[in-house]
Amino acid sequence: MTKTTKPLVISIPKGRILEEISPLFKKVGLIPEKAFFDESSRKLRFSTNQKNVELIRVRSFDVPTFVAFGAAQIGIAGSDVLNEFDYPDLYTPVDLNVGKCRMSVAAPAEWAKDKEFLRQSHIRVATKYPNTTKRYFAAQGIQAECIKLNGALELAPTLGLCRRIVDLVSSGATLKANGLEETDVIAQVSSRLIVNRVAFKTRSKEINAWIKAFQKAVEA
Ligand code: PRP
Repeated sequence: MTKTTKPLVISIPKGRILEEISPLFKKVGLIPEKAFFDESSRKLRFSTNQKNVELIRVRSFDVPTFVAFGAAQIGIAGSDVLNEFDYPDLYTPVDLNVGKCRMSVAAPAEWAKDKEFLRQSHIRVATKYPNTTKRYFAAQGIQAECIKLNGALELAPTLGLCRRIVDLVSSGATLKANGLEETDVIAQVSSRLIVNRVAFKTRSKEINAWIKAFQKAVEA
């Protein structure tokens, strides 16, 4: 009986990052089936030109979960998500230099310059990143009560939910369109190649080859 090798599964975040990932894939010689870059396709699992490599397309917050539990062996995840969850089972060997943006605190323009606000010991913040937000404000002696939202955060201050939000900012267009201003930058964000630590040991030859290929593609 011939031994079958399980495909190597790479977990990729859906959304606008896909456009930036496409040239990287070309450089490492990974060509996904057509449906992968078609956001209207309902498929979640995709074949590639590499016989033993498959891609899955999932929500950005779920990429590290699939890799940490070994459902996928490799993934591409934002440093925003990795810092929020701090998975011990993940190894992050390469900064891919894509998906670059920043994580910032923002407020409605009329409150942005209110220094009194940050003299309070307790504030309410809407965010997708409660752990990172709590840590950031705690370092300034402020207890942040976080309201977890999964999107449309920019609505929260104007509807009276909170006075501050913590979210990703890229062009700044979303903040501007909703009358908000950036008050502080918490961290610079970029996408990282992530690897399941157990798979890294059991399939080291294969996985090391991909790590090297991505490293070379970033340096090129
Ligand atoms: C992100 C983020 C902001 C927006 C910032 O959301 O949560 O809303 O992008 O980008 P900008 O500064 O260029 O306007 P995204 O569009 O990824 O959608 P999501 O909220 O569903 O994650």
